[in-house]
Amino acid sequence: MATQVMMTQVYYFSAAHRLHTEELSAEVNQKIFGKCNNPHGHGHNYTVLVTVSNEAEPHNVMIDREALDQLVRARIVDRFDHQHLNHDPAFQNVVTTGENLAKLIWDLLVKEIPDGQLQKIGVIETRDNYFEYTGNR
Ligand code: NI
Repeated sequence: MATQVMMTQVYYFSAAHRLHTEELSAEVNQKIFGKCNNPHGHGHNYTVLVTVSNEAEPHNVMIDREALDQLVRARIVDRFDHQHLNHDPAFQNVVTTGENLAKLIWDLLVKEIPDGQLQKIGVIETRDNYFEYTGNR
């Protein structure tokens, strides 16, 4: 029987954002998001953890780590590094929370990784904040 082994690759990007939604008044935004609602935004050094399943059996297909690195660089790091997340088309109607960022990264990667192999996206936003998304299951 094959043993399932998880592999996690770690990536980094730095980006600005502001927690704000046009659906709420300025006052309510301020109340909900506090200083993260500051009009000028602020930045984070994001850490992204991409977990895929690999089989430990020697003859099973392993995920090519270099291919995964290339994919994540092209679709995630190059897209978000040194950008303002609120200006990204995917965030026009979505608040740039860590939760939503983790989900977006999942959505951008899942269709390009062999079926069933993507297991989890983790996003570390600050020293004290970690978000993870494992798809709809
Ligand atoms: Ni923030």
